Amino acid sequence: NSGDHVPALVIGSGYGGAVAALRLTRAGVQTHIVEMGMDWTGQTYSSMLEPDGRSYWLRTQTVQPVSSILGIPADRTITKYTGVLDPETFAGIRVYQGRGYGGGSLVNGGMAVTPRRDYFAEVLPSVDVAAMYATYFPRANAALGVNHVDQAWFETADCYRYARVGRDQANASGYATTFVPNVYDFDYMKKEQAGTVTRSALASEVIYGNNHGKRSLDKTYLAAAAATGRLHVTTLHTVTAVAPAATGGYSVTMNQIDTTGATVTVKTVTADRVFFAAGSVGTSKLLVAMRAQGRLPGLSSTVGQGWGTNGNVMVGRANHVWVPTGGLQSGMPAMGIDNWADPAGPVFAEIAPFPAGTELWISLYLAITKNPNRARFSYDSSTGSVGLNWTAAQNAPSAAAAKRVFDTINAAQGTVYRTDLFGSNKVWGDELTYHPLGGCVLGQATDGYGRLNGYPGLYVVDGSLIPGSIGVNPFVTITALAERNIEKIIATDLA
Ligand code: FDA
Repeated sequence: NSGDHVPALVIGSGYGGAVAALRLTRAGVQTHIVEMGMDWTGQTYSSMLEPDGRSYWLRTQTVQPVSSILGIPADRTITKYTGVLDPETFAGIRVYQGRGYGGGSLVNGGMAVTPRRDYFAEVLPSVDVAAMYATYFPRANAALGVNHVDQAWFETADCYRYARVGRDQANASGYATTFVPNVYDFDYMKKEQAGTVTRSALASEVIYGNNHGKRSLDKTYLAAAAATGRLHVTTLHTVTAVAPAATGGYSVTMNQIDTTGATVTVKTVTADRVFFAAGSVGTSKLLVAMRAQGRLPGLSSTVGQGWGTNGNVMVGRANHVWVPTGGLQSGMPAMGIDNWADPAGPVFAEIAPFPAGTELWISLYLAITKNPNRARFSYDSSTGSVGLNWTAAQNAPSAAAAKRVFDTINAAQGTVYRTDLFGSNKVWGDELTYHPLGGCVLGQATDGYGRLNGYPGLYVVDGSLIPGSIGVNPFVTITALAERNIEKIIATDLA
């Protein structure tokens, strides 16, 4: 309620926010989460094939990652609603993010990948790598409920034909592949394939939420935090300002919104400590605006810098008609092409489903590449909004690296690219990213544990700490880094 004074306020309920909430509540701290999206507990998510208002955040049209097939636009009109997926659009890139209690965990593919140790050390040189791999990655994997597919079952399951095709073609072209762990319950998926439970991953569900099977954060970290009795959750509230309070601590201003996005009321509370967990884009935007507006004028000039796409680029290949990929495709990827060790252009490509519910002979991939380009957020005082200066040209290294791998596979298979999926005559799906990282980089915009320099009691705990690239799907790294940082913060700042 407006006027309240709380010990700890967490902005956002994705991975960073959920870790902070669990560890703070377990340490005895009454903790309040403020989340702009809905609490989906007890609600149902939209179908993937017939999306409605529940699919997208306050839009009247869907913005599907694959925008067309054979010249037919894939998007459709929907009712404006506080749906779960937000393709936030900047001048040069579309950044997909989850909105709701659980953040990106509600919409993502569940791929739970621990990064290569040497690349982690290269990206975050100030962090003790041995401690990360001995303590914090295992802790994160356990708390997230990461599990592995039964490899014998994988070889026979109809729903993974697409993954076996992608693997076999990569192997035959000289590339290594690897199974990818997931937070989706593979035992549940087995029962879906056997027809004994309600289908979710096998009903094409993924980016608009899974009605069954997925261990999203609301079922793991956040449920454990709630079980302490010290967690307080407020959804459909968007934080708009944070500034030092006259009485000590920080005053936090938020808009309560309704499901059409309209502001119902504006509230201000005071918090002794504020944990920024609004995601790479959300946290960076908020902090850049606060610095520019003079509310947090002492923030480092590096706040807003070091943002990248994790080198994301999508691509589709057209298989021969005698190589079906399956009409039934699990929405949860389980296999990746690992060509990261190639110094000429590291690539880790997930073999992605194309869960259209019908045979399309398409092999789809989401490639993660080592793109060195970075962008920055900046405040526009005439509009009061925060922009991101990433340009389409900055995607070139991502597409070039992916091209080397998929040109080789096409040559070996005698196949071609699909040029109809991301716009007409366009091979590379590089106008979007699923993996925004950076904007508030550890050890630059913050100290070595996410404390915002100059503002005791303000912390960053989410993907904005990671400088633009991590070489694999990022949520395990975001979780493990948050575990490391919050442990230190609780031990030293809250003792
Ligand atoms: P995250 O974005 O999860 O959470 C931030 C939260 O803050 C959101 O709930 C948001 O609504 C809220 N918020 C923002 N601004 C706010 C404000 N001003 N006030 C209040 N609340 C605010 N990764 C992976 O490892 N494996 C995978 O398979 C995939 N697949 C995938 C698919 C798709 C479609 C997407 C969009 C993303 C993925 N990802 C992924 C990426 C992964 O989901 C992402 O890296 C993490 O969710 C980021 O975690 P954070 O804690 O940084 O923020």
